[in-house]
Amino acid sequence: MSPVHGPGPLLGRIGAREPGGHAGAAQGDTPTRTQVAIIGAGPAGLLLGQLLLRHGVDNVVLERQTAEHVLGRIRAGLIEQGTVDLLDEAGVGERLHREGLVHDGTQINVDGVRHRIDFKALTGKTVTVYGQTEITRDLMEARAAASGLTVYEAENVTPADFQGERPRVRYRHKGKDKEIECDFVAGCDGFHGICRQSAPAGSVQSYERVYPFGWLGLLCDTPPVSEELIYNRSARGFALCSMRSPSRSRYYVQCSLGDSVEDWPDERFWDELKQRLDPQARADLVTGPSIEKSIAPLRSFVAEPMRFGRMFLAGDAAHIVPPTGAKGLNLAASDVAFLARAFLEFYKENSPAGLDHYSARALARVWKAERFSWWMTTMLHNFDDAGGFDRKVQAAELDYVLGSRAASTSLAENYVGLPY
Ligand code: FAD
Ligand code: PHB
Repeated sequence: MSPVHGPGPLLGRIGAREPGGHAGAAQGDTPTRTQVAIIGAGPAGLLLGQLLLRHGVDNVVLERQTAEHVLGRIRAGLIEQGTVDLLDEAGVGERLHREGLVHDGTQINVDGVRHRIDFKALTGKTVTVYGQTEITRDLMEARAAASGLTVYEAENVTPADFQGERPRVRYRHKGKDKEIECDFVAGCDGFHGICRQSAPAGSVQSYERVYPFGWLGLLCDTPPVSEELIYNRSARGFALCSMRSPSRSRYYVQCSLGDSVEDWPDERFWDELKQRLDPQARADLVTGPSIEKSIAPLRSFVAEPMRFGRMFLAGDAAHIVPPTGAKGLNLAASDVAFLARAFLEFYKENSPAGLDHYSARALARVWKAERFSWWMTTMLHNFDDAGGFDRKVQAAELDYVLGSRAASTSLAENYVGLPY
């Protein structure tokens, strides 16, 4: 077996052949040919790779960072049932079912009064708390076990010739220039990736909304303040009480765009969070030293289309949502479900129909999640430029959502995830 890059088994094997593999003449220890070249080893790229490997479709993942760096990014925490089902289909659901926390509902605190939205009663569905880090780790381990090839620390990754029949991806690795020829390129390289930027000039239509605040997140080894997540609307700004496990909490506070982590020592964070909670949560909150703190700006963004010849975008490479609706990772998963099925139709049934419909199918679901995430963000955050009318409408909206079964059901239906 070829050598493994770096320490530990997570890093994937270089030069290994997957079943059904197309690996051509070797260039050093990497192949020169694959069926699907996947750019990016985030959840979208790794999940796509795993679904394809399970069906014998050869693929290579090229990732700019190290595996440790990818695993060190603390991001999503909450996944829809559709994402759980897809992870099962990829064969990586075992630990998720053992350790994930199934939530039947969520709580919303409005100016000190806590309400509950019962997802299970309203929709029959639940959501699961299981960190993106854990999903990524499970996918990396499964890929290594299946001898799937991942090249970490791939520099200057460049998709080329994807408008023709024979796309290729060029990159530099360990000081050497490399090239892989492929049938298709999957651009799973996140918002700042190269794939969307490589689309022909004038072929991408972008839609964007940038919000005038960010989220400061803190991870802490203390028990969560509540058994369910609490979304807090307060005059001081939004806050979210989330978790990763019964002993690990994740909290967020709305902060100014100009703030840096250094502006927020733990003491200030806890102090501010407490002021945004309802009295019960304030009394129950257990604080402790942070083990991670980071600031994320909030943005809505969609690039259309999601296909350029033989290159397909999936996940954050094509769209971003503000995290308020917990939709980003879940959308990456639904894109991957559409794309994996389309590739399988192409390879197993000789039909390009799924590939031809991919962009329209994915975007129809993306826009509904964009709408929901924008709506949740607008309803729950403080906007500095809001006038008296805006504030009154925001209060009425919350009052309506929490008081009407029809409106609560709409929130619940979107939150647990629209079907695909
Ligand atoms: P990414 O995770 O960004 O992965 C892209 C990968 O491509 C990266 O590893 C990157 O290094 C690599 N890459 C980039 N450029 C190149 C290049 N040129 N060459 C090679 N590789 C490259 N979503 C939810 O569903 N639920 C939540 O609860 C939730 N909470 C969130 C909380 C926060 C604070 C944040 C910031 C996000 C949250 N999200 C949530 C969103 C979620 O984390 C993202 O939507 C998700 O990571 C998207 O996965 P991806 O694989 O598409 O992109
Ligand atoms: C998280 O736990 O990180 C999380 C949960 C729900 C959200 C956003 C983030 O809406």
